[in-house]
Amino acid sequence: MEKKTVRDIDVTGKRVLVRVDFNIPLDGETRAILSDSRIRASLPTIQYLIDHRARIILCSHLGRPGGRVDEQLRMRPVAERLSQLLGVPVQVASDCVGKEVRNKVRLLGEGEILLLENLRFYPEEEANDHHFAQELASLADIYVDNAFGTAHRAHASTVGVTKYLPAVAGFLIQKEVDCIQELLSEPAHPFACLLGGAKINDKIRLIRNIMQVVDVLLIGGAMATTFLKAQGFSVGQSLVDNGSLGLARELLQETKDNGIRLLLPVDEVVVDKVEKNAPSKVITISCMPFEGYIVDIGPQTCQLFCNELKKSRSVMWNGPMGISEIADFAKGTRCIATCLSNIDAITVIGGGSSAEAVEEMGLTERMTHVSTGGGASLELLKGCSLPAVQVLQDKD
Ligand code: 3PG
Repeated sequence: MEKKTVRDIDVTGKRVLVRVDFNIPLDGETRAILSDSRIRASLPTIQYLIDHRARIILCSHLGRPGGRVDEQLRMRPVAERLSQLLGVPVQVASDCVGKEVRNKVRLLGEGEILLLENLRFYPEEEANDHHFAQELASLADIYVDNAFGTAHRAHASTVGVTKYLPAVAGFLIQKEVDCIQELLSEPAHPFACLLGGAKINDKIRLIRNIMQVVDVLLIGGAMATTFLKAQGFSVGQSLVDNGSLGLARELLQETKDNGIRLLLPVDEVVVDKVEKNAPSKVITISCMPFEGYIVDIGPQTCQLFCNELKKSRSVMWNGPMGISEIADFAKGTRCIATCLSNIDAITVIGGGSSAEAVEEMGLTERMTHVSTGGGASLELLKGCSLPAVQVLQDKD
């Protein structure tokens, strides 16, 4: 990455404002933390700052409170988990700007940590309001962005603040950007790209961007349904991106012209009603019943995709193979995760549902890289730059 990192700036004794992405899933009722992987991913940068005796001011959003205080989205549970993981106290402020925060920062000793309250309690955060950015910046001497998951958002704490402070990247941003850029610039071949999820539109730029480097494209999930329909198959009542049928045909032709092999499902799991415990059957794609809904890839498709993945030297996976939030329809997604955990290849998992499946199955350590940012990694894979990374200082 051509940006300065926290290693390129003297942080000792300085007040360092660190934007982290602690937007983690919480239980709807108990508010218990369901996954702390984003907190864990931030630790190397925070530990570096502790070791270098910086005065550490962490800030993040949590959920989408819509610019208002939401008691359910306060940062305290996050501070508690962070403190457990680091083995040091983490102070919490009851706001992210204002007098109390300024006082707490003034009293912050070297190597100590203060976590500010949810930034999105203020509408100015998402509006990238320059007064709000200035107020945040006034708390510190240096800004470190370690929030990869939010790097595609131009908000006050990710972009605005960099106008007022020397701004460098944390280790998580560096690792995520380097990993995806390396995969796109010099992948080990054969390079397979496995895509799922619902909308083709989201992934078109991605497919076009990787055309020059990818050898095989495997498509599952609801996205595959649109491609199957574009090829003339009946898909029953399944979710189809009808506005993208022409585009799907174009992409089928473009992949052919570029010598890329494109694999689509050969069988699917079908139900009469999309709901938990619905009776399902496996059909080959030429036998789709008119009333049915496709909810997952079938076992033959899993086998076909796995055989292909086993031959690959690098794999990028983005998007589930079915409606993976319903356990019965997550078999295809789980089968792919298991397959990737057993192959001898570079395996990069985009954030979102595919990353969640890998994490839930305890397979994170068996992948080369599991991204902490679904939206941000998608932007990079599309060849777009991330606004919050663009504004960081360039390496000399
Ligand atoms: C995410 O979870 O994708 C990031 O934290 C960004 O959150 P947002 O989509 O609410 O901006």
